[in-house]
Amino acid sequence: MATKLKKQDNPKSEKLWAAAEKIIPGGTQTFSKGPQQYVKGVAPKYIQRGKGSHVWDADGHEFVDFVLGLGPVILGYAYPRVDEAIAKQLKDGIAFPLMHPLEVELSQKLVELIPSAEMVRFGKNGSDATAAAVRVSRAHTKRDKIACCGYHGWQDWFIGTTTRNLGVPDAVRKLTLPFKYNDIDSLKALFDQNPGQIAAVILEPTLFVAPKDDFLKKVKELAHKNGAVLIFDEVITGFRIALGGAQEYFGVTPDLSTFGKALGNGMPISAIVGKAEIMSKFNDVFFSFTAGGEALSLAASLATVAELQEKKALKHVWAMGDMLRDGYNAMAKDLKLEASTRMIGYGFWPEMEFNGKDGKHSFEIQTLVTQELIKRGVLTRAGMVLCYSHTPEDIRKTLAAQGEALEILRDALKAGDVASRLEGELIPPVIRAS
Ligand SMILES: Cc1ncc(COP(=O)(O)O)c(C=O)c1O
Repeated sequence: MATKLKKQDNPKSEKLWAAAEKIIPGGTQTFSKGPQQYVKGVAPKYIQRGKGSHVWDADGHEFVDFVLGLGPVILGYAYPRVDEAIAKQLKDGIAFPLMHPLEVELSQKLVELIPSAEMVRFGKNGSDATAAAVRVSRAHTKRDKIACCGYHGWQDWFIGTTTRNLGVPDAVRKLTLPFKYNDIDSLKALFDQNPGQIAAVILEPTLFVAPKDDFLKKVKELAHKNGAVLIFDEVITGFRIALGGAQEYFGVTPDLSTFGKALGNGMPISAIVGKAEIMSKFNDVFFSFTAGGEALSLAASLATVAELQEKKALKHVWAMGDMLRDGYNAMAKDLKLEASTRMIGYGFWPEMEFNGKDGKHSFEIQTLVTQELIKRGVLTRAGMVLCYSHTPEDIRKTLAAQGEALEILRDALKAGDVASRLEGELIPPVIRAS
C-alpha cells in the first residue's frame, strides 16, 4: 500500500518565481528547466546546490537527481577532481588575449578518443557545434539543404522545423528537412525530392531506441552516394554511451560529429570534430566568438575526460541505469502495468514510457508518476539521466519511490481517476515536431 504523502511547501521557490515572471521573459533561461516541465504546485522551481548525485532546492529539500543539469553532469555535482582543475586554472585567469595551451591539449585528447576526430574546434553550447557543422557542410558541398533527425538546438536552421519556430524566416525553414529515425526510406525520399541539393545529413545516432537493420550504416552509404556530409550529433551520446561516442559503440564513423553536455561535467563547452578535409574549411568559414577557448571549461573538460578514463566510470553509469530500468520493469510487470508504463533505453539514459489506452504518450500518467516521485525525494523527468556519483543506494531508494508511484497509478487506472489525482498542472511537451 503506497504511503499518501503531503506536498512539500516551497515558499522560497514561489517567491523567486513571482519576481522572475515580472523581469525574465518566460521566467527561465532554458525552456526545459522551466516550471512547465514539472508538476506545478508540487515540484520545486529553483535548485540551490548539488553534491554528487543529489541536489537541494531553494527551500532546502533534498532530492536524488536524474536530470543532472539536462545531461552535462556525468561525474557528479561539485566533483572534486573537476572542481580542483577549475580552481587551479581560476588562479591563473579565465579569458586571455591569445590562445591558451589547454586548447591544444584537449584537442589532442579528443583526436585520441573519437574515431572521426582528425581536427577539433570548440564551442560553448551544443547548438554552437551543430550550427557550425551545418555551416561548414554547406561550405564544403556548396549546397544549402540539410536533412535532420532528432533535436539539434535553438538555432534558426533547426528550430524552424519544430512548433517553436516563431521568428525563423520561412526561407530558412524550407532549407531543413526532417526524416524519421530507423526509417531509411524517409531519408531516401528526401534525396529523391531534392537531387544534388542536400549538403548534410545530421542525426542523433541513438537515444532511447537502438538503430535497427544497419540503419546508421545505411544512412552513411546514402549520404555519401548523394554527395552529402554525414554528421552525428553526439551532444547526448558523447562521453555517455562510450568515450568515443555512439560512433565507437556502433562502429560507424561519420564525417563530422558534435559533442557537448558531458564534455565538461557542467562547464559550458562543446566541440565539433571530424575529417581534416572538411574541418580545415574552418580556416575561412566563420566560427569565432569571444568565449571560444575559455580556459576554465577546457581545464574542467580535461579533468572530466581523465576521470572517466581512469575510473572506467561509464561502466558504473550503465550499471546503475540497467539496475533502475530492470527494477522498474519488474515492478510494472508485477503490478500488471506493462501496457501503461515501462522503462526503455540504454543504461546511461533510460526513459520511463507512459502510454494511454490509445497507445499514445500519456502526459496525464507522466504527470502523476513524476509528481509522486518528487514527493518522495526523486527529481526526474521521463528520461532518467545517470552519472558516476549515483550509488546502488540511490537506485534502491528510487526504485522504492517508483514502486509506490506505480501502486498509485494502478489504483488510479482501476478507478479511472488519474486526472483527479494530479495535484498540479499537466506537463506539456517543450517542443513537438511539426
Ligand atoms: C542531441 C542534441 N543536440 C544539440 C543540442 C543543443 O545543445 P545546447 O542546448 O547545449 O545548445 C541538444 C540539447 O539538448 C541535444 O540534445
